[in-house]
Amino acid sequence: MPVSIVVGLQWGDEGKGKMVDHLAETAVAVARFSGGANAGHTVEADGKRFALHLLPSGLVRKDVIGMIGSACVMDPVTILEEIRSLEGNGISIEGRLMISGKVNLTHPAYRCLEVQSEADLASGKIGTTGRGIGPTYVRKYRRNAIRLEDVFNMQSFIELVDFHTLEAINTLNLSSTDVEKLHSDVQSFIEATKEVSRFTADVSLQISEVLRDRDALVIAEGAQGSLLDPDHGSYPFVTCGQCVAGAACTSLGFGPTMVTDVIGILKAYTTRVGAGPFPTELDNHIGTQIRKAGNEFGTTTGRPRRCGWLDGVLAGYSARINGCTSITLTLLDVLSGFDELKICTGYEGDHFTTGRSMDKLIPVYEILPGWQEDIRGETDWDNLPSAAKDYVLAVEKIAGVPVTSISTGPGRNDVIWR
Ligand code: GDP
Ligand code: IMO
Ligand code: MG
Repeated sequence: MPVSIVVGLQWGDEGKGKMVDHLAETAVAVARFSGGANAGHTVEADGKRFALHLLPSGLVRKDVIGMIGSACVMDPVTILEEIRSLEGNGISIEGRLMISGKVNLTHPAYRCLEVQSEADLASGKIGTTGRGIGPTYVRKYRRNAIRLEDVFNMQSFIELVDFHTLEAINTLNLSSTDVEKLHSDVQSFIEATKEVSRFTADVSLQISEVLRDRDALVIAEGAQGSLLDPDHGSYPFVTCGQCVAGAACTSLGFGPTMVTDVIGILKAYTTRVGAGPFPTELDNHIGTQIRKAGNEFGTTTGRPRRCGWLDGVLAGYSARINGCTSITLTLLDVLSGFDELKICTGYEGDHFTTGRSMDKLIPVYEILPGWQEDIRGETDWDNLPSAAKDYVLAVEKIAGVPVTSISTGPGRNDVIWR
């Protein structure tokens, strides 16, 4: 009855989608446990490139069940688009997608509210993905959010939807054209919710049924990254859903005793989209070189990602708060061609915080020799240049967790197992 949790150890986009798809070869089910369509998980398989936002990455494999846990938030219109996009690529999800009835829905007005709240923040903008994620979680904790299962009582569902429409109209200074558009979007929202409701399931119960088979593997797929977690991340520059491994249990409705592995996905350097502190950021030609080599542009918003050296202190911190049993080091191939590489091993004054003064941290680096060989697609540890092996060993040492696999390309099988 193994459950493997896959989590990002940085600010998201570590290559979780690629690794979940890789690991799903032996899985019965893949269950997304956090976030919403703010995520963008890329899977490259069979000559195609898929960008999954809320659908679990495992669905790309035609024999894997995909589940969406209660702590996720869902925009019914965009998930239908995602389903259609997969189906357009010949991948049917009929009969193998299960969505918890407890997921909270993103009402169309929430996107307008998010635009307003970002504008109100002026120079302190979070730089959100604009998917209405924050307002949805705020309403969940305000205890009047709309859940998927609410659609099964149509009268009270419509009342709830209307309440949120009116509240937004009364809060925002909308033009009559905007109000008209909102009403039309609300109609699409209602129709989409009805359509998607056929996938409603008791995800906790379904996982327990799968796990009755002692050998069946369930992968709990995290979204975002530990440093975007509202408790443990770089607050207030975080997302609103919990991103750390512990959240898999609460979202999917199984106990910690079911978890056998926590696999931390760590990019061989660091990236971040949106605002907020980033101690090892390279706002120079090296950062540009990394962005180019790693094609570091957002999967969801297309924004250029900020790039920098690997922060080993943050890697160790994230490995600890997630209880990682292993690390997969991803995008190592992107670091080919540098004369030297740096890993942050501490901060000046030995000060550490992920709070409001994180932007004051000044990194102290260990310098390692680079390598020139192209290692993209490599699958054999023995074939890595010795400098690349030394880099992996240095990461393992500072993170304090074994690096058991290394991703060397976007393709499903571009993985070295040590
Ligand atoms: P996720 O959000 O953690 O799933 O990551 P994203 O999909 O947003 O971003 C990772 C990007 O790197 C995607 O374009 C992947 O196709 C790509 N990728 C994943 N692993 C590797 C790797 O090992 N090497 C290279 N070159 N690209 C990779
Ligand atoms: P995946 O799963 C990278 C960032 C946004 C912003 C902050 C808050 O692909 O790794 P939100 O819209 O969630 O309220 O924005 O969080 N963010 C991500 N950054 N990868 C993601 O997901 C992200 N999801 C949210 O850029 O800084
Ligand atoms: Mg992503």
